[in-house]
Parts: sequence; C-alpha cells; structure tokens
Amino acid sequence: MRFIHLSDLHFHRSKKDNKACSKTLEYIKKQYPEHYLIITGDIADDGHEDQFKRAFEALKPFSGKIFICPGNHDFGAAGNFYSRERAERFDGMLSIPLQQGGTFTRDNTPVVNIVEQNNERVMLIALDTNLETEHPFDFASGEVGKKQLAALDAILSGPVVTAMVKILFFHHHPFMHNNPFMELKDAYDLMRTIFNRVDAVMFGHKHVSKRWENVGGIKYILASDDSPGKDWAREITVEKSKLSVADLQIA
Ligand SMILES: [Fe+2]
Ligand SMILES: [Fe+2]
Repeated sequence: MRFIHLSDLHFHRSKKDNKACSKTLEYIKKQYPEHYLIITGDIADDGHEDQFKRAFEALKPFSGKIFICPGNHDFGAAGNFYSRERAERFDGMLSIPLQQGGTFTRDNTPVVNIVEQNNERVMLIALDTNLETEHPFDFASGEVGKKQLAALDAILSGPVVTAMVKILFFHHHPFMHNNPFMELKDAYDLMRTIFNRVDAVMFGHKHVSKRWENVGGIKYILASDDSPGKDWAREITVEKSKLSVADLQIA
C-alpha cells in the first residue's frame, strides 16, 4: 500500500493561479493511479468559496483515495483570522464530498480512516490543529487542544488499533518553538501522547521539507514543503506491516 504526502496547495480563485498545482495533481493521477494521497492542510489560500470549488475540482478524481486535514489558510483570511464560516466550508466543500471518515469543525475529534488492501490495514488519523481565536496574532500558530488530545489518546489505546500501522497527520509544525506565528502550542503534550504509539507523523505549514527518523519514539516524522511546482514528494509504503519512506518524482 502506497501513499504520497503533499501539503500547502494554497488553491486560489482563478484557474491560472492554480496551474502548478493542477499539473502536479494530474501527473500523480496519471503516473500513480494506485497511490493514496495525504494532504496536510492549507488546501485553500484563505477559505474563499471559489478556492474550495477549484480545490474540489482538482481533488475529486482522488475521491476515496485521499485523506485531508485543514490548515490555518483554509479557515481564515491571510491564515490569521479564524472564521467559523470558512471552517465549516472546508467540511462542506471538501471533507464531506471527498468522503473523509468524519468532519473537523463540529465535534473537534480526530478524523479516522482505515485503509485495507492485500491483507494490510493502515489507520490514518487526521487532526485539526487550528487555533480558534479571534486574535490575528494567535492564529497562525496552532493547538491540538485538550479534547482532541484525549480523544487521540483513547483511539490509540484500543487493542485492535495497537496492532495496526498508524499514520498521524495534521497541519502545524510541532518542532517550531518561540515563534508566535507558526508554532504548535501544545506540541509537547502531543508528542508525549503519541510516544511509541504511531508509525509516522506528517505535517506541512512551514513550506520546508525535512525528515526525522527514530525521534520521540516515532519511526518517521515527515515535514512536506508546499507541493505545487515541486518535482518530488515523499512516498510512504506499508508492506507486511512495515512502513518505509522514499522520494518519488511528481513532475
Ligand atoms: Fe501554507
Ligand atoms: Fe499554514
């Protein structure tokens, strides 16, 4: 079973501004029709209806094979101002039509999907790390929140889940500290909750690609850059309950 990690597509209203993104997605669809996609947020540039419409048009061909989570730009203008209306639009125009296993804005619990293929089962857990504040200088940073963390802890405690390969993904970067515009405020609590309990952690937000191995009890921690226009992305393979990571050409 193979996954491709993309992030920060930042769909705009006009078609011509999304050229690089559409090209990347078309290439992937053509070259890797069997792969699943994981997109770690900032799918739209500021949550405008037309941006979600453009994003859905481009992502629809992956329906049933795509897993998404929201980023700060999906929920607010300039990525700073949280808007309940835009957050609900993300669910209405992307999460629901793209057949995610739940919505992000209503009960604020992790969205869980289980993929099965060739006797292999992988659990994908998506978090909403957007901070619900009206203060613009708080919003680009993120937070998992106590409720979502408790729900994640409960999910990871299930006996059937323990035996499954687990991929956790969200938008905000957990290793950025003392940066009020970017940091994940409760990154420490999150990392403590998932220590030795998930196989891979994936995120975006910083638009810089990086990978860590065997850090914090996690085999792979993967930061994606902003994918449109890039010529490679990470491919995650799960085979015989083992997870491995490689670079994959996407242009
Ligand atoms: Fe972004
Ligand atoms: Fe972001």
